[in-house]
Amino acid sequence: MSDSMQDLIQGWDGLSVILRYDEPSQSWFFIALHDSTLGRPTGGCRMKVYPRPADGLLDALRLARGMTLKFAGAGLAYGGGKSVIALSRPLGDGERTATLLRFGHLLESLRGAYWTGEDLGTTPEDMAVIAQASRYVHGIQRNPEGGEPVAATDPGPYTARGVLAGIRATAHQIFGSRELAGRTVLVQGVGDVGAPLARLLADEGATVLVGDVDEARAREVAAAINGAVLRPEEVYRTPCDIFAPCAVGAILNRETIPELRCRGVAGAANNQLADEAADGERLRARGIVHAPDFLVSAGGALGLIYRARGHTEAEIRERIDEIETSVRTALLEAAAQNEAPHAAAERRVLASLGTRGDPGASEPGS
Ligand code: PHE
Repeated sequence: MSDSMQDLIQGWDGLSVILRYDEPSQSWFFIALHDSTLGRPTGGCRMKVYPRPADGLLDALRLARGMTLKFAGAGLAYGGGKSVIALSRPLGDGERTATLLRFGHLLESLRGAYWTGEDLGTTPEDMAVIAQASRYVHGIQRNPEGGEPVAATDPGPYTARGVLAGIRATAHQIFGSRELAGRTVLVQGVGDVGAPLARLLADEGATVLVGDVDEARAREVAAAINGAVLRPEEVYRTPCDIFAPCAVGAILNRETIPELRCRGVAGAANNQLADEAADGERLRARGIVHAPDFLVSAGGALGLIYRARGHTEAEIRERIDEIETSVRTALLEAAAQNEAPHAAAERRVLASLGTRGDPGASEPGS
């Protein structure tokens, strides 16, 4: 990867990027605002060590675009945004808190132009820390007297429920039945989403295989549900019905796709296709049904937003379960058009956002 930060920003189709070097932690803060057609740019805050700051920026740009698709695809009136705290080294506890607070001050300075929430590498506790410095954090409950953040909602279990719905739709497309009992599902990454997903799948009677870079965590999750553990390097080549990637993105690429021995892919990881067009086609050529990740992973966003609006858990679950219909529709449409599902769904969602990207066609008043 040799692109400079300038190249990355020049090649991006979003609105703007806010960036800042955080001297004390030697990390970079990136806030990417991709689109505001439907509402204010919103999306989680990812925090992890990247080899180079530009890798963190690239993640922010791609993830923010993914949020635009996710909100529009789920019928939520929010725009796409994402932030990345690109660490150059792991931080100690005190340093972590101080860094999150400084990030919170930057967030507050934007006066609501971007709202954040939990994402890979951040926790509900981290969100409560950021919320000490900023009002613009999703999922925070405050103490009515002091306005102090007291707790934060974990979107992971909501996302997991949506992934289960997406897996059902994918099974339906492949096998003609949404039933998961007796199917083998391979969950890559058993963190905040993958762990509750593995449990839900086991409850459905599926055979669950799990793999995680943290092998102790994989063993722990597998033991609790009578599942089997795979070493990280075995994940792609292990036979299964559905592969559910729930960790980092770009795992469907020219190296992994030829190895896959699954019938379908449906998981929560954002931006699963390394190259959207080419890798989507590679999967299709192999007869593997790929459920668009931005539809499958919308449960967390739905959960956070519907909770904040005061809906009951039963109502939230019902709304999240609609993901099965949205994925089913997308898979049927793509099959009817002989197209890769991600490309077809993306085209439809972008069209629903209007003619942005087509200069001259959307001039106000014309
Ligand atoms: N980061 C999660 C996602 O991308 C949850 C989240 C959704 C966080 C919306 C903030 C806002 O879906």
